[in-house]
Amino acid sequence: MSNKAVVYNKPGEVEVRDIGYPDLVLRDGPGVNPLNVGRKCNHGVILKVITTNICGSDQHMVRGRTTAPSGLVLGHEITGEVIEVGGDVEFIKKGDIVSVPFNIACGRCVNCRKQDTHICLNVNPDRPGSAYGYVDMGGWVGGQSEYVMVPYADFQLLKFPDREQALDKILDLTMLSDIFPTGYHGAVSAGVKMGSTVYVAGAGPVGLAAAHSAQLLGASVVIVGDLIEERLAQARSFGCETINLREHDNLGEQITEIIGVPEVDCAIDAVGFEASGHGRDAGEAPATVLNSIMDVTKAGGRLGIPGLYVTGDPGASDDDAKEGTLKIRFGLGFAKAHIFVTGQTPVMRYNRDLMRAILSGRAQIAKAVNATLISIDEAPDGYKKFDGGISRKFVIDPHGMVRDRMAASASAHAK
Ligand SMILES: NC(=O)c1ccc[n+]([C@@H]2O[C@H](COP(=O)([O-])OP(=O)(O)OC[C@H]3O[C@@H](n4cnc5c(N)ncnc54)[C@H](O)[C@@H]3O)[C@@H](O)[C@H]2O)c1
Ligand SMILES: [Zn+2]
Ligand SMILES: [Zn+2]
Repeated sequence: MSNKAVVYNKPGEVEVRDIGYPDLVLRDGPGVNPLNVGRKCNHGVILKVITTNICGSDQHMVRGRTTAPSGLVLGHEITGEVIEVGGDVEFIKKGDIVSVPFNIACGRCVNCRKQDTHICLNVNPDRPGSAYGYVDMGGWVGGQSEYVMVPYADFQLLKFPDREQALDKILDLTMLSDIFPTGYHGAVSAGVKMGSTVYVAGAGPVGLAAAHSAQLLGASVVIVGDLIEERLAQARSFGCETINLREHDNLGEQITEIIGVPEVDCAIDAVGFEASGHGRDAGEAPATVLNSIMDVTKAGGRLGIPGLYVTGDPGASDDDAKEGTLKIRFGLGFAKAHIFVTGQTPVMRYNRDLMRAILSGRAQIAKAVNATLISIDEAPDGYKKFDGGISRKFVIDPHGMVRDRMAASASAHAK
C-alpha cells in the first residue's frame, strides 16, 4: 500500500511523495539516529491519519534554519484512527479515534513517571525528548502523511470518548496534539490566573492558543503583540487587545495605553529564535522577545517561553546565534526575580482536560486560530502561505475524510 507524505527537500521546498506504508519498526531513513534503526515497536499502532497540522516549528526546518536533512518526513501534529495494533498493546483498539501528543514518550522512565513526557529518556539517543518528523529528535517518521506508526500506544494515545462527536469537533480536537496544550502550558507557566494582565508575544497559532488559554484561565486583559496586522485582527476577533510592533517600537508605552501601567503580571513568548526586532526597519533579532518580556513583566512575574530556541542555526545572522547563543539581558531578569519556563510542552499534562473543555463547548480553539482544512496535495502551497504570514492554522486532511463529512452534513442541512 502506498503512503503519501509531506517531505522536506531543501530550504523553501517541501514535496508530497510516497514514502511507503509503515510497519511496527523504526527503519533507517533521513534523520534516523543510527541507534534507533531497527527499533521494534510492538507497543505501537498504525494510524490512518484523519488530520495533521502545519506548525511554526515545521517552518524553522523548512526555512533552512535548522540542520534538518533533506528527505525528512514532516509532521508532529497527528490525529487518527487506529487501524493496526501491535502485539504488546493492551487497551487501545482498532477503530479508536485518538490524538497523538507530539512528544514521543515511553511511559517507563523516571521523567515520564513525573509527567515530564517532553524529556523522556528512552526515545532519542541524542538527548532527552523527542517528536515525530523533527530534526535531532531520534528520527521518528513524521505524520503529515496518510498513515503513520505511533509507538507506546497504550501510554501515549488520548482516545476520544465518542467517534461521531470526535469527527464533528475534529477541527478543535486536532489542536490537542500540540498548539492548544502548548498555548495553555505557556499561560500556566506564566502564572496566569483570575484577573491577571497578560502579554503574549506572537499572534501565530501558538500565540493565539496562548491568548485563548489565558482567557480560559481568567485573565482580565490579554494583550497580543505581532508585526502582522492580519494576525492581530484575528486576536481581536476573540477579545484580545493588540499591539502592532511594526508601527510601535516601545512596547511598555503601548501597554500603558491599554492598562495604565507599563508592566503586566504574566508574559508569554510565542515567537522563538526567528524573532524580528520592533519598528518599521527592524530585521531579525533573536533575543528581542526574551528581552522585551523581561522588560514588561513586573518583578516576581513568570515568563512562559514556548517559542522555540535552538542549539544550532545555520541561517543565523551572526556566529554566536549560529550556536544558539543570544544576547540576553539576564541581569534584568535577575533584578526582577523572574521565573522562566522553557522547553517542549509536556502535552500529556494538559490534553485530556483540554479535550473536555472542547467537547463541552467551553474552549473554541479552532475559531481562535482560524483552523483551515486543506488536502495533502495542497500542503506545499499551505507551507508557502503560512510562511508568508497568513492568519490561518492549516489542517491537512490526507484522506479527504473531514471534507467528505462536512459536505455530507452541509447537504443534510440543506434538505
Ligand atoms: N515549546 C513547544 O513545545 C512548542 C510547540 C509548538 C510550537 N512551538 C514554537 O512556538 C513558536 C510559535 O509557533 P507558531 O506556529 O505560532 O509560529 P508562527 O511563525 O506562525 O508565529 C510566530 C509569530 O511571531 C511574530 N513575531 C516575530 N517577531 C516578533 C516580535 N518581536 N514580537 C511579537 N511577535 C513577533 C511573527 O510575525 C509570527 O506571526 C515557534 O517558535 C514554534 O516553533 C513550540
Ligand atoms: Zn507543532
Ligand atoms: Zn520515558
